[in-house]
Amino acid sequence: MNIIVTGGAGFIGSNFIFYEMKNHPEDRIICLDSLTYAGNLSTLKPVLDKPNFRFVKESITDREAVERLFEEEKPDIVVNFAAESHVDRSIVNPDIFLETNIHGTTILMDACRKYGIRRFHQVSTDEVYGDLPLDRPDLFFHEDTPLHTSSPYSSSKASADLFVLAYHRTFGLPVTISRCSNNYGPYQFPEKLIPLMFINALNDKPLPVYGEGKNVRDWLYVEDHCRAIDLIMRKGRDGEVYNVGGHNEMHNIDIVKLICDALGKPYSLITHVEDRKGHDRRYAIDPTKIHNELGWLPETKFADGIRMTIDWYKTHENWWKPIISGEYQNYYQKMYGNR
Ligand code: NAD
Ligand code: DAU
Repeated sequence: MNIIVTGGAGFIGSNFIFYEMKNHPEDRIICLDSLTYAGNLSTLKPVLDKPNFRFVKESITDREAVERLFEEEKPDIVVNFAAESHVDRSIVNPDIFLETNIHGTTILMDACRKYGIRRFHQVSTDEVYGDLPLDRPDLFFHEDTPLHTSSPYSSSKASADLFVLAYHRTFGLPVTISRCSNNYGPYQFPEKLIPLMFINALNDKPLPVYGEGKNVRDWLYVEDHCRAIDLIMRKGRDGEVYNVGGHNEMHNIDIVKLICDALGKPYSLITHVEDRKGHDRRYAIDPTKIHNELGWLPETKFADGIRMTIDWYKTHENWWKPIISGEYQNYYQKMYGNR
C-alpha cells in the first residue's frame, strides 16, 4: 500500500514512520511535511534513502501541491498528523491554527475524494473534549463526550474532527479519527513539558511550572500511540472515533519533580509562573472501545517509558541542541534549500 503520512517530520509522525517501516516493510511511505519550526528533517535521516520512503516538502494547505502528490502517488491511506500542535502558541497566534489544522485537513480530504482512497485517518486529541474537574476521578472522556474546547488549538482540532465526520456522512469518505492523550518519548519538540523541563534542569535553569502544577495529564508512550493509529487505520470501522490513552494520570508538578530526581537536580529550580490562559485542569481518556474492538492496550509502563525518554534526551544532544540554538534552521536552508 502507498501511505501518505502528513507531519511526519514532527514528534509523533516521525515515530509513526519508524513504526510503519519496521512493522510493515511491504508498504511505501510518503511523508508530506512543510517543515515548520516543529518539523525536523534530520529526524528522518535513518529512512531518507530507503527505497520505500519518499519525503516531500509541501504544505497541506497548498491545494495544487497536495493534488500533484495524490496524482503521482495514488495513496491507499492518508494519515494526517500535520498540525500546529502547541497550545501556548495558539493563544499568541490563533490564525495559523485555523489555516493548518482546519483548512489543511479539508484540502487533504478534497484530494482523497478526487483521487479515491481506502482510508483517511485524522490524528486528533483528547483536548477536543475540554477538561474534567480535579475532584471527580470517576469521570473520563468517552467517544460520545460532547466536544467542549478551551483553547484555539483544541478548537481548531475539534473543528477538523467535525469536518472529517461531515465528509464521511455527506460524501461517504472512508474516515477514522483517533483522540489521544498526552504523548511522550523521543523526538518531542523542546517546547513541550517533558523535554523542556529536562533540558532546563540539565542546564540548571528555572523550571517554569504554570500555576500550582496541579493540572493532570494522561501520559502515553509515543510508540503505543503509533501502534493504536496503525490498528485503527488498517482495521478500524469507517466513520468511527477511537479514544487512545493509557490510564496514566499525573500532576504536572510530579512529572517535573521526577525529572529533577532523574537528573539529580534540586526542586529549588522549580519556579511557579503565571498560569496558562484557559488552562485545562484534567484530561482522562477511557480507551475501552479500542481495546474491545481492536485489542489495543498500552504496552509501555510509565516508569519504563520515562526512563527511556530521559535516556534518549541525555544521549541525543545532537538532536535537540541545534533546535534550541536555532542552528538547525540555518543548517536546513544550507543542506536542503527548498527540497
Ligand atoms: P509536532 O508539532 O511535533 O509536529 C507537527 C508536524 O506537522 C511538523 O513536522 C510540522 O512541520 C508539520 N506541519 C505543520 N504545518 C504543516 C503544514 N501546513 N503542512 C505540512 N506539514 C505541516 O506535533 P506532534 O506533537 O507530533 O502532533 C502530531 C499530531 O498529533 C497533531 O495533529 C496533534 O494535534 C496530534 N496529537 C498530539 C499529541 C501530543 O501529545 N503531542 C497528542 C494527541 C494528538
Ligand atoms: O492531550 C493531548 C495534547 O497534549 C496534544 O493535543 C497537544 O498537541 C500537546 O501539545 C499536549 O498539550 P498540553 O498542553 O497538555 O501539553 P504541554 O506539554 O504544552 O503541557 C503539559 C502540561 O504542562 C500542561 O498542563 C501545561 C503545563 N506546562 C507546560 C509547559 C510547556 C507547564 O506547567 N510549564 C510549561 O513550561
